[in-house]
Amino acid sequence: IGKNVHYEESVESTQKIAHRLAYDNAPEGTVIIAEEQVAGRGRMDRKWHSPKYTGIWMSIILRPNIPLPKAPQLTLLTAVAIVQAIEDLTGLLPEIKWPNDILIRGKKVTGILTELEAEADRINSIIIGIGMNVNQTREDFPVELQEIATSLFIEKGEKVSRSDLIKGIFRNLEKLYLLYLEEGFLPIKFLWEGYAISIGRKITARTLSNSITGTAKGITDDGVLIMVDDHGKTHHVYSADIEL
Ligand code: BTN
Repeated sequence: IGKNVHYEESVESTQKIAHRLAYDNAPEGTVIIAEEQVAGRGRMDRKWHSPKYTGIWMSIILRPNIPLPKAPQLTLLTAVAIVQAIEDLTGLLPEIKWPNDILIRGKKVTGILTELEAEADRINSIIIGIGMNVNQTREDFPVELQEIATSLFIEKGEKVSRSDLIKGIFRNLEKLYLLYLEEGFLPIKFLWEGYAISIGRKITARTLSNSITGTAKGITDDGVLIMVDDHGKTHHVYSADIEL
């Protein structure tokens, strides 16, 4: 991972470029990094604020030979790789909010957007988009984000090297990905659970059409969130926003 890196100064979205490269048969492990995105995208059609030189905005192409329903496992794997890179480099202790928000002291420092190219039931490529707030000051964030978003600089009190972080992410991602291909999701699941904050707590899961309140029990072997609502009914949540 990271042997084939496309570096851009300014793009609409690295996801968009990654989709095009994947379509053109770019090899597994190809990465697109940009200094700035003018139309960065988040989950659920939201915008992703990606100002110049302060963050890590990148998309990684993977081509695992796994069935479609197992794709969310790679998002969880990526979250573990990122948390470990932040820990190693800064000593900060980030936590993961299912499925893929990385928080420090309750504020979001990194988001992951996983998108698939599939034909019938076969995955052609998985595009993993990573947006990490690294050296922004509080004032660099739009006012509406200041209470919910943070950066490594804000949390650590000093600038953090983006290139060291990127190297750390590539290294961890490659290690975990090889482990995953060899031994499956179980070892990754254990690591992920060690960083997860939502498990065992009362949460509300909101999708575009409804919301469920209950206790988060854990994740399935496919990475799906298991919740038990106040009537004791079990729900499997595939995609949602979680409120703690
Ligand atoms: C989220 O909503 O939490 C996911 C945010 C993902 C943002 C990254 S930045 C690099 C890549 N390109 C995009 O347009 N989005 C992802």
